[in-house]
Amino acid sequence: MPDSPKLTRRPQWAALEDHRADGMLHTRLRELFATDPGRAERYVVRVGDLRIDYSKHLITDETLALLQELAVATDVFGLRDAMFRGEKINVTEDRAVLHTVLRAPRDAVVEVDGQNVVPGVHAVLDRMAAFAERVRSGEWTGHTGRRIKNVVNIGIGGSDLGPAMAYDALRSFTDRGLTVRFVSNVDGADLHEAVRDLDPAETLFIIASKTFTTIETITNATSARTWLLAGLKAGPEAVARHFVALSTNAGKVADFGIDTDNMFEFWDWVGGRYSFDSAIGLSLMIAIGPDRFREMLDGFHLVDEHFRTAPAEANAPLLLGLLGIWYGNFHDAQSHAVLPYSHYLSRFTAYLQQLDMESNGKSVDRQGRPVDWQTGPVVWGTPGTNGQHAYYQLIHQGTKLIPADFIGFANPVDELETGLAAQHDLLMANFFAQTQALAFGKTPDEVRAEGVPEHLVAHKTFQGNHPTTTILARELTPSVLGQLIALYEHKVFVQGAVWNIDSFDQWGVELGKVLAKRVEPALTEGTDVPGLDPSTAALVAAYRSLRKK
Ligand code: F6P
Repeated sequence: MPDSPKLTRRPQWAALEDHRADGMLHTRLRELFATDPGRAERYVVRVGDLRIDYSKHLITDETLALLQELAVATDVFGLRDAMFRGEKINVTEDRAVLHTVLRAPRDAVVEVDGQNVVPGVHAVLDRMAAFAERVRSGEWTGHTGRRIKNVVNIGIGGSDLGPAMAYDALRSFTDRGLTVRFVSNVDGADLHEAVRDLDPAETLFIIASKTFTTIETITNATSARTWLLAGLKAGPEAVARHFVALSTNAGKVADFGIDTDNMFEFWDWVGGRYSFDSAIGLSLMIAIGPDRFREMLDGFHLVDEHFRTAPAEANAPLLLGLLGIWYGNFHDAQSHAVLPYSHYLSRFTAYLQQLDMESNGKSVDRQGRPVDWQTGPVVWGTPGTNGQHAYYQLIHQGTKLIPADFIGFANPVDELETGLAAQHDLLMANFFAQTQALAFGKTPDEVRAEGVPEHLVAHKTFQGNHPTTTILARELTPSVLGQLIALYEHKVFVQGAVWNIDSFDQWGVELGKVLAKRVEPALTEGTDVPGLDPSTAALVAAYRSLRKK
């Protein structure tokens, strides 16, 4: 791997530092708008159905130009092209990174190790579609011949967050006759609550695990099998009608006792957190049907093509990635809020947390050298209006700079009856009001002009100048959801490329897994754990004394 110069020694880095110190540090959004009447129209980028307004950012044309120069210097587009070509850009795992192939059209050609992988992707999608239709139509029945009415996805991380988020997001497109649930936590309460009111004869378990070795998933899958066989009063022959697997690991699937005919495969060039549009999406496909699922994939693909071909100045993922770098690396912002004004996107930010934080939570560069620049932000947020009554106070008047993405829709979902649909304007009034208040605040003079007594003026002043991106679409459809996810996937890519980190490995999750395995016998059997530190040893002893026998 070629050695690249240290990021913070690049002249483009220094130019951005100077730019911030020279002018931007004291810039006010009020002034930027006052001196540039075209700003609101100019600082908008459109991709597919998304209208992305970035005018309320602490930037000028010069800032954008300097950020783009940094992207050129760090060869973001070179790495992007290598990714799309199937090169092994996941250097620490020596793997290609090809989630973009999962939504490529049938006639695309992308080679990994000399083999076109697109036909394999479509073969699995076709098998998934056939299976999903059989479940939806009632043709696929359980062991006792009863129709499947419940689908329980068991998986964790990338094998849970994507389908769980998308099932909520696209609820109004789902078959309402099906109950679809998601179990991820190894806390037995999760599975208990998911199945306690279900009839095993009508329940299909989808075991989703790229590796099929993840302890949480295998433990829950084993418990689910016990629950099923006990409920059906049947032997292992019942498993075939009630368990399917989504995995890259056929051997482990077979070891678990799932017929590999009931396995939908994907490949090691799909990262777990980028896998939701692979076989991992089967539960969603059953819920919304293969046609809607394809619409979603087409939405992803549209943004892939945009990212691959749009020039730097109109490239939405590049722009969002660079804005994050502007705040994280040059303004000390530690976190990034994602605030959807849609109840259906309740789990969207949780999904993005894995996408962003597992990808870019790194402290060595691609060559293994420690970085001396900030990498991925803490990503957080919940649906907008709920947040307004909880933590927005801190965004408005706290001491921290928190850039935020506001995501909203011009229309509620079709399904809402008239009275509830009318509430949509109130929801969106809040959406627009918040970005306005964050950007422009309220000056002490404006507060005084309202007759506020002097001792309260400081308390009622809003500094403003809080940067936000506003992403607006006509409505939340499968395609729009795909577009949104791909937008964030590529934003994360851009940032990882500039920071020169490997965004596609996740070594940081390993140590905890190893230690948990080592500690477990101390909890279950009371055995001594060699090498346990004194604090943890005391905690384990306390746990054991409190644990009901
Ligand atoms: O522990 C982290 C992780 O490896 C994620 O990257 C992944 O999405 C999750 O675990 C689940 O892994 P699997 O799909 O192999 O069960």
